[in-house]
Parts: sequence; C-alpha cells; structure tokens
Amino acid sequence: MVKYSIIIPMFLCFSTLYAGFTFVGKIKNYNVFPNKVEFTLTNANLIIYVVDQNILRFRYTNQGEFSNAPSYAVIFQQPEKVNFLFNEESDKFVIKTTELIVQIKKDPCRISIFDNKMNLLNKDDEYYGVSFDNDEVRCFKKLFDGEKFYGLGEKSDQLLKNGNQYTMWNSDFPAYNSKRDPLYVSIPFFIGIRNYRAYGIFFDNTYKSYFNMGASNKEFYWFGADKGEMDYYFIYGPQIKRVITSYTMLTGKIELPPLWSLGYQQSRWSYYPETTVRRIAQSFRDYEIPCDAIYLDIDYMDGYRVFTWDKEKFPNPTKMINDLKAKGFKLITIIDPGVKADTEYFAAKEGVENDLFVKYPNGKFYEGQVWPSWSYFPDFTYDKTINWWGDKLSILLKDGIEGFWNDMNEPAVWGQAFPDIVQFSDNGFGADHKKIHNVYALQMAKATREGVRKYSPNKRHFILTRAGFSGIQRYSAVWTGDSESNEEHLKLACIMPQNLGLSGVPFIGTDVGGFIGEPTARLYVRWMQLGSFTPFFRAHSEFNSRAKEPFAFDPNTRSLVRDIIRFRYQLLPYLYNEFYNASVTGLPIMKPMFLNYQNDENCYSYDSQLQFMLGDNLLIAPVLSSTDNFKKLYLPGGKWYSFNENKTYDGSNWIIVNAPIEQIPIFIRQGGFVPMQDVQNFVGEKKIDELQVLLFPSPKSEYQLYQDDGISYDYTSGKYSITKFSEELSNNKLKIHITTEHDGYNTGLKNYLFKILAVSAPKAVYVNNERISDNKKNDYKTNNQFNFDKEKSILNIKTNYSKKLEIQIEF
Ligand code: GLC
Repeated sequence: MVKYSIIIPMFLCFSTLYAGFTFVGKIKNYNVFPNKVEFTLTNANLIIYVVDQNILRFRYTNQGEFSNAPSYAVIFQQPEKVNFLFNEESDKFVIKTTELIVQIKKDPCRISIFDNKMNLLNKDDEYYGVSFDNDEVRCFKKLFDGEKFYGLGEKSDQLLKNGNQYTMWNSDFPAYNSKRDPLYVSIPFFIGIRNYRAYGIFFDNTYKSYFNMGASNKEFYWFGADKGEMDYYFIYGPQIKRVITSYTMLTGKIELPPLWSLGYQQSRWSYYPETTVRRIAQSFRDYEIPCDAIYLDIDYMDGYRVFTWDKEKFPNPTKMINDLKAKGFKLITIIDPGVKADTEYFAAKEGVENDLFVKYPNGKFYEGQVWPSWSYFPDFTYDKTINWWGDKLSILLKDGIEGFWNDMNEPAVWGQAFPDIVQFSDNGFGADHKKIHNVYALQMAKATREGVRKYSPNKRHFILTRAGFSGIQRYSAVWTGDSESNEEHLKLACIMPQNLGLSGVPFIGTDVGGFIGEPTARLYVRWMQLGSFTPFFRAHSEFNSRAKEPFAFDPNTRSLVRDIIRFRYQLLPYLYNEFYNASVTGLPIMKPMFLNYQNDENCYSYDSQLQFMLGDNLLIAPVLSSTDNFKKLYLPGGKWYSFNENKTYDGSNWIIVNAPIEQIPIFIRQGGFVPMQDVQNFVGEKKIDELQVLLFPSPKSEYQLYQDDGISYDYTSGKYSITKFSEELSNNKLKIHITTEHDGYNTGLKNYLFKILAVSAPKAVYVNNERISDNKKNDYKTNNQFNFDKEKSILNIKTNYSKKLEIQIEF
C-alpha cells in the first residue's frame, strides 16, 4: 500500500511508465433505465443505481463487464423501478431523488452528492476520484474540515476513526491490544458526520480492503481493495440512526434470539469431563447465581473431530444434557470449521466423497493445520456444503445441544496464512481465497443458521461467532475474541461493542473477566458489572487459567457478582424489548452517546465513549479501572435519575459520582420507562406474575414494550404483544396510560408494580378513576394500593394487570 503514494506523483510525470495505473477518465456514453443509469467511461464502466430515495449505489469496473456473482453481504433486492429524475447539462449529468441530488461531472468523471437543498454532503476528490492500479481499486473522497468517521466493525481503538488507516482481513490475533488491526470481523461500512449530519458508505467488496480516514494527509480519505469492483453504497441520514437502519436494510437485521440467551452464560476452555460440567452447573444453583448456559470448548470432541463426542470424557452426552436441561441449563458446543483429514472419520469421508472441501488449483484437497492437526476446510460458498454442514449439526441437536459457537472461522490456521490460491465455488462463479477469506465465517454462520432452522423449524437456537463480515448480524451473535484480563481490555470491552453496534451488529459481547490471564477480584467485578449491560453476557477463559466462575472467588466477590447477575435477570423485559427494537431497526442495543444525542458535542468526546446508553432510557457508566471508586461521566440534556443514589441530576453536565466496588452508575432518562421483573435462577424458572415498571416522570413521554414466548418463531405469525405506556406530568398531576397495541400473546401477567421515581408524597392516587388506598406497610396483599417511600422519594403503585389502564396521581 505504501507503494501507491509514491506511484501517483511519478505517474503524473511519466504516465507511460505506469501503464497499470488508470483513472476512470471521462464519460463517453450513457443509458438511462427505470432504476439506474449506466455510463461508459474512458477506462471503466459505471452504474449508478437508485436503491432508495436516500440510498445510491455506485459501481465501477475496469474489467469490461460487471461480475454476475451475487453479493454475500447484501440481501436487499434492488427494486426494478425507482422514482428519480435524470438530466444532462453541458458539463455534467444530474440524478435527483426526493432527498439527494447527485452531480456526475463529465470530464473527468467525478461524483458530488448534495441533499435536496444543495448542501454538499460528499464528493470525490477532484484529482484522484476513482482509480485502478492493475487489480487494485480505490475511491478518493474529499476530506472536509471537522468531518468525523465512525464504524468499520471490530476495531479496537477508540470510536473516532479519523487519522488512521484500517484493513479488512479477518485475523485471529490472541491477546490483541488497542493498536492491533485487523481483527476477527471485517465490516467495510463507515459513517461520516459533519455539522452533526450523517451519511454512510458501505463498500461491498470482500477482498482485503483498506480505509484511510485521513491518515497522514488532510486532503482526502480513501477506501479501496486489492481486487474486485469499486462497488459502494452511499446512504444519507442525516440522522446517524437512519444511516444504520438503511445499512441494515441492505445487509439484514438480527433475528429475535431465544430469551434464555440474554441470561448469563458460563464458559471456559474447557469444562470436562461430565462430572465437572455437572459440578459447575450445580454450583450456580447452590449459590443461587443465575445462569442459563454452559459452554463446551474443543475438548468435548473425539480428537477435535467436529460432530463427535469424546466418549471417555462424556460417556452419555444426551443424558447429561437432559439432566442439565431439567435444572435450567442449555449446553452450547464450540464448532470449528476444520474437519480432521482422517480417512476413517465420517465427516472427512463424506466431504471428500462429495467434493465439499476447498481445493488447490490442481484439484487436490487443501489441508491446513488447526486443533485436530491436518484438516480439510468446508467450502461454505457451495450450496451443497452449506446443506451438508447443516445436516451434520443435527447430530448434536439430537443430543440436545441448543447453541453453536463458531470459532477459528477467519479461517485461522497455524502459521496464520491460509494459501491465497485455494479455490472456492463462489456460488458457481469460482474464486480464490483472496475473495472468500473475509466471508468464510459469514457463510459458515449461514450454514449453521439454516441447518438449525431446518432441523428445528419452530425453536430458536443461539449462534455465536468469532469472525464475520457485513451481514453477520442476520445469523449470529459476535464476541470480541481472545481478550486479556487487564484494564486496557476492560476499556475495550466498553468501546468495541459500541463500535460493532454502530456497524450493524447489535448482539455483541466480550469474554467477561478476560480470556487470557488472571483478573484481580476487583477487575473481575468491574468487568462483570459492564458485561451485565452488554447484549451478550458470557464469561470465558483460557486453558490452564485459574477458575473464573463467580463462586471461584472470595465470598464477598461472589456475592457482589451474584447481585450483578441478578440485576441483569430483573432487567430482562427491558433488554428483550431492545433486542426486538434492534430486530426491527438494526440499531445497536448498547448505544454510543452520540447516537442518541447527535447534536451534543460532548457526546463525541473520548470520555463519553466510556459510558453508553442501553436502549434509550438507561445510561450506564461503568467503572473501567480496578482501583477507582468513582466515575466521571456526561449526562446529556434533560434530567436524569441516579439509580444508586435515588436522586436527580440536571443534564448537559459532566459529573463525578461515587462508585464503590458494589456499584456501577446507572441513570434513568427523564420520561424513561424501564420494565423489570423478579429474579430467577434461569429464564423460565418461575411463572412471572408481575411486571415492575420504573418511571422517572416527565412532561410527556411514551414507551412500547414487546413480549412473546421467547423461544419459538410463533411471533412471526402474530403471536406477540405490544403494550404502549404513556405519561404526562403537568399541574402536579401525573397521568399514566397503558394500552395493548397488539394482543397476539398472553403474557401471563397478573399485576403491575409501578415505581414512580423522584416524586413527593401523593395527595391521591386513582386507578381507572377509582381512588386507591395507601398501603402503609408496603406489603401489598391485594392489588390497587399504593405506598410512598419517603426516604427514597419513590411512589409504589400496585395494580391489577389489564390491557387498558389509567393511573392518575395528584401531588
Ligand atoms: C480460540 C477461541 C477461544 C477458545 C479457544 C479454544 O482461542 O478464541 O475462545 O477457547 O480457541 O477453542
């Protein structure tokens, strides 16, 4: 890559010496279609598709024709007809949608994109534009003063991407740090923000690609790839949220996961034999620390052969799994793609006989070394392999396994370099490893998702992956790989999930406690506190490390962690609703502050990345040091209720709060509803009768709560419920309305317990216009009573559960 910056000036002087380097040239010809305009340029072809009124796709090739191979990332079908206007002017063409105006300069061909009021949003670099250097493709864009960049998936530095160059090449790098790039997941999508207005660019190219966000220059930023087409989508916001929603319209959104997968999950490398797994499970129940899933790492297999059991360590897996299921545990097995190249082993035999593995160009099966030693690699770009893999998973599904953990799927091999010449089907189009590397894990996750769905069409399973590409969110949750038990990684555990969330991957978490090394008790507690508010909440640790289950620590730590995990279970209704929102909007669950407060400069500061919004109503400010007992944090405009202190703060302020080891600062936004429930040892342990609803009243606000059975796909045929909560506070009167907006699922709830925060003693409380009595003891033997906690300024109101409810409070 360095070579290139040297070539450009030389090319300008001695163009004949660098015949491989070309600019796109000028527009020679064009053709207008109902959904696109095609241009012939001196050195390339260009198609501009109008995808939507705020989305345009720019596709260039210098190969004479465009590839017919389908995109791996994009599942959105380009509409046949889209409304737009096209005009030719003397020196340019103009495409107009209701939201965007695109000028396509004729000579040389350069793109400028404006909003419909002619505010310039984005523009090719005047001189370099799009260019080709032999196989390499590049797009140079003007870098504006004050323009900020975010996104790009799994990156371990801070959220702001300016001034650095990033590479997309899925890489296994244990014990990485904040300087290491690339890592396991590649997402060639970023968001540009200028004057608080956002656009996104998604570069749909799976080759090794590069994003230079103004590193070492202040003229332009550029993105490009070693090969393939310069094929990118421009997405206009101006809201950041809309950019992400549009990007996930193209690449897909999460499915609703099983509710239990939002519970706490326990892993290590490795729990074996069976007695150990049973002991770990029992300890969770004995100590009453909630837990829903236990992981089996590579040692459950017979010599690391996928789809097998080591019968010495696990003589009767089905019985073990069923016994644990009866105690509320789900078992999740690791699955690595490498299939041991052993002629006696059924999976290897079937793969060889049916041609399901990747090969060298000379037709010989490729063998690479991973855990099982020499192994074949399934060709997940070949339909037949995808089906076969899905069928093989049914072996474990029949044993009762409820989730799959895809690892080593970059694909990683010992020596780190899968040979580039290895051949893949590429859906029948044929490609080498250079094109497929970055989508190998995406395709493996697709095979996994389709396999479990085929085997078990109406039960949700959990899928986790280490590597991925744009679109991975539609198949799998992601964790951030082999972290270390240190403070740098504790910070990364706050920032990386936010970065992935901005990049369309909401179901994300870290190895809580750190994978490599040994956390101090305080670091462990701080990471648990943070982890309990990340969408995916699993502790995992490496081989030979000390036991890191909560009960392996001293009694005080154990009890702190029990309380942390219990709070997570209380918060499940709120959290599950955020998963529902993410499945509809594509937005993150763990949100960077600037996503919700786009016009607040403070929310873009480095410090504000060390806190986040969980949904729209909770602000979480984890302590990311093992020694601090305080937290500096920013509260955006409005008022905030401090959960730990039972007091309110005015926003638009940086504050410092006490945060002793037993506390993680949590704030509720004014107007924010937070539905909660009783603690359980696992999801489904108890029948939940009561929904607790926290509210910090505001002049006016609304909230919607989604509920379904949490396990089947029945919701896709309308079996879910949506409850709308609204509130209004004026003239010392608070009105709360609850209505059922969609009534397809019986929640089984019997009553509500409202907790109205930061209020004074009420004069009177009415439920459905009837005045209710003060239960001074706060014991609520019957519903429709209230109690005022003077010390905490909390008004508790207990009512019957009803599809329509009206509460009025006079203060
Ligand atoms: C990789 C994974 C890690 C796993 C280990 C053994 O390092 O990232 O989570 O425990 O392999 O399978």
